[in-house]
Amino acid sequence: MKETLENQFKHVAIIMDGNGRWAEARSHARVWGHIRGSRIVSEIVEEADDLGVESLTLYAFSTENWSRPLLEVKTLFLLLKKFIKKEKKRIIANDIRFKVMGDISPLPDETKSLIYELETLTKNAKGLKLNFAFGYGGRDEIIKSVNCFIKKNPGKELTKEDLAENLLIPEIKDVDLLIRTGGDMRVSNFLLWQIAYAELYFTKTKWPEFKRSEFRQIILETNDRERRFGSVEKTDSLNENEMRADENLRLMSSSKTEWRGN
Ligand code: FPP
Repeated sequence: MKETLENQFKHVAIIMDGNGRWAEARSHARVWGHIRGSRIVSEIVEEADDLGVESLTLYAFSTENWSRPLLEVKTLFLLLKKFIKKEKKRIIANDIRFKVMGDISPLPDETKSLIYELETLTKNAKGLKLNFAFGYGGRDEIIKSVNCFIKKNPGKELTKEDLAENLLIPEIKDVDLLIRTGGDMRVSNFLLWQIAYAELYFTKTKWPEFKRSEFRQIILETNDRERRFGSVEKTDSLNENEMRADENLRLMSSSKTEWRGN
């Protein structure tokens, strides 16, 4: 059931990390961690929908993951296929719009057909926008967007809006909250353009142990964060400190400044 929670995070993105370490710590092969991790995905999708999140983007396979052992790569392909088969009915019934972003050309034809079919069936869905980043890299996405723009507009200077409009899924807009499980604190080439002003949350929990209750807790806990987007609240008059700063600024402005770099 959908909640009335005033959730400021419209677009939540998750780096589902820690599968391999979770499995190895239990003397299992790394792929076991991915298999167990894939079970958590449906739960988190359901919770995001319940919490009124508008877009949920999950990092399932990065461009860098191609260098992993073939068994691991094949397992991740298989898990995507199984997810679609298992969740298709529920996705349609819950009016969820399903999309995959990234280069899926090396995937088996059957998996690609399943992806295209579910994307088509849900293209007009009005509920949660569920995106799987698969064969995805943030730098690749930006380069692709720029090239796409140049092709359509030869000789024209690119703006921020142009770049955003040519991203893989332009309508999902900026990420509001980026969560990474597994304990590492990096963004790993994920949605580089879209996370410019995202709130970041890192949890030590490995993805196979991540639960809907922790997801909910993160949303509730970070929902109060004040997001200033590089700005501060404006007041009409200056206080004492600001007057002093203003005077310093006037003195500084007499010296010449210069931009470095291109
Ligand atoms: C990182 O863990 C995780 C991945 C590379 C894949 C994430 C995939 C899933 C959670 C399952 C896929 C599910 C579907 C539905 C497609 P890691 O192996 O890098 O873990 P480590 O940092 O512990 O080594």
